Amino acid sequence: MARLKAASVLIVQFLSQAPALQYQLIQEYNASNIFEEFNFFNGSDPTGGFVQYVPFDVAANTQLIGNGSDQIYLGVDSSNIYTPGGPGRPSVRIESKLTFTEGLFVIDLLHVPVGCGTWLALWTTGLSSWPADGEIGIIENVNDARSNNAAIHAKGECSVLDTANQTGTWKSTDCIINHDDNQGCGTVFTEPASFGADFNTNGGGVYAMEWTSSSIRSGSSPLPDSDTFGAPSASVEGPCSASFGEKFFNHSIVIDTTFCGGWAGGTFGTGTSAYPLKEGLGSLDSCVDYVASNPGAFTWGV
Ligand SMILES: *[C@@H]1O[C@H](CO)[C@@H](O)[C@H](O)[C@H]1NC(C)=O
Ligand SMILES: *[C@@H]1O[C@H](CO)[C@@H](O)[C@H](O)[C@H]1NC(C)=O
Ligand SMILES: *[C@@H]1O[C@H](CO)[C@@H](O)[C@H](O)[C@H]1NC(C)=O
Ligand SMILES: *[C@@H]1O[C@H](CO)[C@@H](O)[C@H](O)[C@H]1NC(C)=O
Ligand SMILES: *[C@@H]1O[C@H](CO)[C@@H](O)[C@H](O)[C@H]1NC(C)=O
Repeated sequence: MARLKAASVLIVQFLSQAPALQYQLIQEYNASNIFEEFNFFNGSDPTGGFVQYVPFDVAANTQLIGNGSDQIYLGVDSSNIYTPGGPGRPSVRIESKLTFTEGLFVIDLLHVPVGCGTWLALWTTGLSSWPADGEIGIIENVNDARSNNAAIHAKGECSVLDTANQTGTWKSTDCIINHDDNQGCGTVFTEPASFGADFNTNGGGVYAMEWTSSSIRSGSSPLPDSDTFGAPSASVEGPCSASFGEKFFNHSIVIDTTFCGGWAGGTFGTGTSAYPLKEGLGSLDSCVDYVASNPGAFTWGV
């Protein structure tokens, strides 16, 4: 069940921010262009996952990716058994060639990867000098979680107001990279079906992230209609926003599915509802063993 299936990713840039936000479409990624407009990262996983990120040719030849019927698929290997001591299960990590500073990012998804050992992330970040140019997580969570987690990470002092108008629940209001185990200032969405199996059962939904010079907000909706978004699930505003221009700029869009690593591995089988305890499991090593030896857990089926 470790596939990401999307209809489109739209980037909308602001024509003006005052007195009211006005938008114009500046970039659309869909089945026709996403594999030309994104690079396939093929190095070792910067997040320490049990994964081999494969180049475009390998991904296409082994059916890890697809782009028919106006839909985009990004999958993982679900056929082979791997050695726990080896590099890991094949997957893809793609990074937009264009970079963006501010804008409205709308992502129409039909399915997200889910299940023990998986760690999906759809985020924006600068690739040349990470972490100097910041990171904005839009869609992210691990294992069997059913709530989205949106977190921003900044270099240097960057705290935000916990009184922001958001419906989600703060995990931390300290956004500094490397503080608090690197969790950034993250919010867990409270609306149902914002991630995981429930999101997929609903037939997916639309995420939006609005990045202006003074705030970063995100939310999800089961319908592709921004009027239904209401208050944001996550809203990051001052005091850090005074220096947003120095902390967040020139971001590529990155989409990846990795396995285990610090987050999915660290919480694997810990017995909470999001990370159910499987018999005999419950550690980073057992996450790697599970992912290495259970290709059938990562098929493309719903
Ligand atoms: C897909 O994106 C391309 C490039 O932006 C655009 O020209 C085309 O109309 C889009 N296709 C659909 C079906 O939206
Ligand atoms: C799929 O992607 C390839 C590579 O970018 C492109 O040449 C092809 O036209 C795309 N197919 C569809 C149906 O959009
Ligand atoms: C791997 O990534 C590097 C850096 O983007 C690129 O130059 C190289 O062509 C890629 N390798 C393959 C086999 O695609
Ligand atoms: C919070 O956001 C919602 C939706 O944008 C808006 O209707 C409401 O007035 C806001 N509340 C506050 C206290 O700003
Ligand atoms: C962002 O990228 C543009 C174009 O490459 C460059 O001119 C600009 O200096 C970059 N911004 C920062 C803050 O580095």
